[in-house]
Amino acid sequence: MKYLIGIDAGTSATKTVLFDELGRVMAMASQEYPLFQPQNGWAEQRPEDWADAAVNTLAEVVKKAGVLQEDILGIGLSGQMHGLVMLDEEGKVIRPSIIWCDQRTGEEVEEMLRRMPKERWMEITANPPLTGWTAAKILWVRRHEPENYRRCRHILLPKDYLRYVLTGVFATEVSDASGMQLLDVKRRCWSDEVLKTLSIDKALLGRVYESCEVTGTLLPEIAERTGLSTAVKVVGGAGDNAAAAVGTGIVRDGKAFTTIGTSGVVFAHTSQFLADPKGRVHTCCCAVTGAWHLMGVTQAAGLSLQWIKKQCCQDYMERAQEEGRDVYDLINDAVSHIPAGSDKLIYLPYLMGERTPHLNPDCRGVFFGLSAIHTREHMLRAVMEGVAYSLCDCNEILREMGVEIGQMMACGGGGKSPVWRQMLADLYHCPVKTIEQTEGPALGAAILASVGCGVYSSVEEACDRIIREESSTDPREEEAKQYNRYHQLFQEIYRSLEDDFGKLARL
Ligand code: XUL
Repeated sequence: MKYLIGIDAGTSATKTVLFDELGRVMAMASQEYPLFQPQNGWAEQRPEDWADAAVNTLAEVVKKAGVLQEDILGIGLSGQMHGLVMLDEEGKVIRPSIIWCDQRTGEEVEEMLRRMPKERWMEITANPPLTGWTAAKILWVRRHEPENYRRCRHILLPKDYLRYVLTGVFATEVSDASGMQLLDVKRRCWSDEVLKTLSIDKALLGRVYESCEVTGTLLPEIAERTGLSTAVKVVGGAGDNAAAAVGTGIVRDGKAFTTIGTSGVVFAHTSQFLADPKGRVHTCCCAVTGAWHLMGVTQAAGLSLQWIKKQCCQDYMERAQEEGRDVYDLINDAVSHIPAGSDKLIYLPYLMGERTPHLNPDCRGVFFGLSAIHTREHMLRAVMEGVAYSLCDCNEILREMGVEIGQMMACGGGGKSPVWRQMLADLYHCPVKTIEQTEGPALGAAILASVGCGVYSSVEEACDRIIREESSTDPREEEAKQYNRYHQLFQEIYRSLEDDFGKLARL
C-alpha cells in the first residue's frame, strides 16, 4: 500500500491528512492561527504561521500514522486562494499576507479598469477586476508601501509559499493562479498583456504547472524535521475550491458542490470554457487538465456563524467543552426547533463585502425584522438561512448561464450540518448529497499527488476508485415555498440598501 499527504492551508487552520492510496485516513493533524483585521474590511495573516503549521502537522501525521517512510510517495498542497505573499531576495516574508476576504483595494480596481477595459479583462483573465484578487493587492502595496514593493523579488499565493518552504521551489499551478488575475485563463499561462498593462515584472512570478505535475521534492532540512524522505514529491496541488472539487468527486460535467467553510462557494465543473459576461461568478482553470470551473462566492458563510458564535455564544462553547461535543452540533440542535424563516427574521451575510451576485466591497451585514419575540437562537438560525439565501443566489446564476447541475454535493465544515443541508436542498429544489470522506481539499490535494506519483493515471480514475456517496437530503415542498418568499425579500433588502452601504463606507 502506498500513502499520500494532503495539506490544506485554510483561513482558520492548516489541516494535514495522511491517506492511503484508497483515500482512507491514516492520520490527521491541524494547527490554528490568528486572522488580523487592522481596519474595517481589511484581513491579514502571517505566512510564517502557515509555514509553522504545515511543518508541525506534517511531522505529527507522519509520527501518528507509523507507516514505512519509503511508502509515503507525495504531497499535494491546497489552500485559501488570492492571498498575496511577498518575499525578498533571501526568501524572507516582507509583510503580512493580505488575504482573500480583504476589501481595501477599491481604488486599485478602478485603476485596473482605467488601464484596460472590463471586456478585455474578461477575455484574458475570464473575470472582471476584483478587490479580493491578488493583482489589485499588488497594486495596493506598490502605491501605499513603495519600499516593501521595491524589496519584493517573489510573489506567491498562500499554498505556494508552503511549496517554497518545503521544496525551495517558486511555482504555482493553474487553478490558484487563475485567482491572481494575471493568468490567461483560457490558455493556462501568465498573460504578457496583463503584466505589461499593470507594469508587473514576470520574473516576480513562479512557473505555472498543471495541478498533478511534480514541482519539486522535499528539502533535506524539512525531510529531517518531518520524518519524511527527500524523495517525497510535491505536486502542483490546487486552490482550496478546486481541491475540494477533486476531494468530492466533482471532476466531470453535470457535477457541482456547495462548500461552507469560512467562505461559501457553489462550484460547477465545465469541460468547455464558459464565463459570466456580468462577472458575477468566477471562471477558473480547474485541477483536471484541460477543464475549468465556475464558482459563485459568498464571502462570509461559515465566518458569519463563527462571528455570532464568538460574540454571543460563550455558554455554548463552555458546554461543548464540558460535554466533549462540537459547539456547532449544539447550535444545530438549538436552531432545529425554529421554523423556516426564523419567525420573520432575515440576515444579510455581507460582513466582508460580497462577490456573488453583488460584487460590492462596501456592503455589510444586516439583521432585518428584529422583534422582541426573537431569541438568540432565532438569530443563529437567521444567520444560517441568510448564508443559504446567498448560496442560492450563486446557484441561480449558474442555472441562468445554462450550467446543467445533475448532482449537488455538500462539503466543508458547514456541509456537515444536517440543518444547513436541508436549507440548501429546499432552496435549490434538488437533493443535496454528502460523501463518506469529509476531508475535501486535503483529500483532493492528496488525490492530485497520487496521480502525479503514478498511483492512478488520471484524476477521474482516482476519484472513481476513492469517492463514495453517503447521504442525500431531499427538498421539502412546504418549506421550499416558504424559503422562496423569504429569499425574494432578502434580495429586495439588498437592493433597497445598496446606496446606503456606499454612504456608510464613506462616513
Ligand atoms: C474563492 C475564495 C475563497 C478562499 C478561501 O474565490 O476567495 O473560497 O479560497 O477559502
